[in-house]
Amino acid sequence: MTTTHDDVSGMRRGEAEAPAVDELSAVERIGVDELRALQLERLRWTLRHAYENVPFYRAKFDAAGVHPDDCRELADITRFPFTTKQDLRDNYPFGMFAVPEERVSRIHASSGTTGKPTVVGYTTSDVDNWSTVMARSIFAAGGRPGHKVHVSYGYGLFTGGLGAHYGAERLGCTVVPASGGMTARQVQLITDFRPEVIMVTPSYMLTLLDEFERQGLDPAASSLRVGIFGAEPWTEQMRREIEQRLDLHAVDIYGLSEVMGPGVAQECVETKDGLHIWEDHFFPEVVDPLEDDVCADGVTGELVFTSLTKEALPIIRYRTRDLTALRPGTARPAFRRMDKVTGRSDDMIIVRGVNVFPTQIEEVVLATAGLSPHFQLRLTREGRADVLTVVVESVVDAPHDVRSAAASEVSARVKAVVGVSVGVDVVDPESLERSVGKLRRVVDQRPAQ
Ligand code: DLL
Repeated sequence: MTTTHDDVSGMRRGEAEAPAVDELSAVERIGVDELRALQLERLRWTLRHAYENVPFYRAKFDAAGVHPDDCRELADITRFPFTTKQDLRDNYPFGMFAVPEERVSRIHASSGTTGKPTVVGYTTSDVDNWSTVMARSIFAAGGRPGHKVHVSYGYGLFTGGLGAHYGAERLGCTVVPASGGMTARQVQLITDFRPEVIMVTPSYMLTLLDEFERQGLDPAASSLRVGIFGAEPWTEQMRREIEQRLDLHAVDIYGLSEVMGPGVAQECVETKDGLHIWEDHFFPEVVDPLEDDVCADGVTGELVFTSLTKEALPIIRYRTRDLTALRPGTARPAFRRMDKVTGRSDDMIIVRGVNVFPTQIEEVVLATAGLSPHFQLRLTREGRADVLTVVVESVVDAPHDVRSAAASEVSARVKAVVGVSVGVDVVDPESLERSVGKLRRVVDQRPAQ
């Protein structure tokens, strides 16, 4: 079956069709047993490669009394020590690389909020594998060869832009490397070039949507059919909001620099039921964040990844801090899915002993009439108590009584659902800082202790 643009435009609204089996790559069609055998072979290679070429891993394995030869089955992975972001920082910049520097063809870095950036490297073969999993992801999202793909993820040290770019090219798409920022021009490019696919953070998509409206354009009338959104948490409510306003399919893409970049896991457009992890390259575990024990499938905990093919930066049992659960495959049966990541353990705000995730507030805000999806969480201190205020923009022209009803509703629902009292400040449209990439949801204004 060949898919034309017209077939995909038929995907707007309603159900998206699954691709024909022969459209999938051979590895996406393999059975679970075959996949497990491939993973074991690659895991054993990765453990040896890390041990032999990275002094950090050799020292860690030795201290834990394990050797790569101790890995005889996949379950043996639990005998090996975890790796953390701090380990990468301690080995800044290139201490975790397992190949000579001249074999590293690309370097990316993520800035993080404090301290030195985390530096990651790729050989040409790593970039090739990354392009393959990204192409697979864009295809699973509904992108097809011949489509134009507008990439608004930032280009540069961030992995989003170039990762998306190489994947779209590999799939045979025409890439528009817009990068982030210059919002008015992005809308013009989308209007004039008529891309079918956009790849962008969900928060920047909201900024673009507002810009469409500011220019008097109907976003739902745009050429966009598929939005591939990731790099930050977003909720089912946000999916509905974006799908409705843009009349496209909004699907989730996940990844992180330390493990590769975008394209570690991807939601399939025909099911939208969580993200299939490309397990031929990345081995997932979910562990209890406090006890470090491996959780059973279906139980939420911290996601941990081991790379299976990476040459420049093999990563063993990397603690992502992202919270999710693993589930059996559906649209790609052999590949396990992960639930949408609703937060990171270090995004969590603890207000008077109650754990609060920004996504929980997002759900409430989006379900409340009179409010826009633009909000910030402001943390302040009164006396010795932390105070959390939801600062949220009203929709345009909301009268005073609608705003105050919305404020009371948000505070009551947050109390009922999350269990914490919050202040709510409904502000004018366009008064909060807009995202041009990853959104800063929490503004911590508490004085340093
Ligand atoms: O954000 C890679 C990426 C780019 C993914 C573009 C998807 C699209 P980092 O900058 O290293 O890499 O940040 C990784 O972002 O540990 C999560 O906390 C968060 N994150 C990434 N994707 C999602 C998602 C890129 N779909 C960190 N949902 C990860 C929730 C996400 N959080």
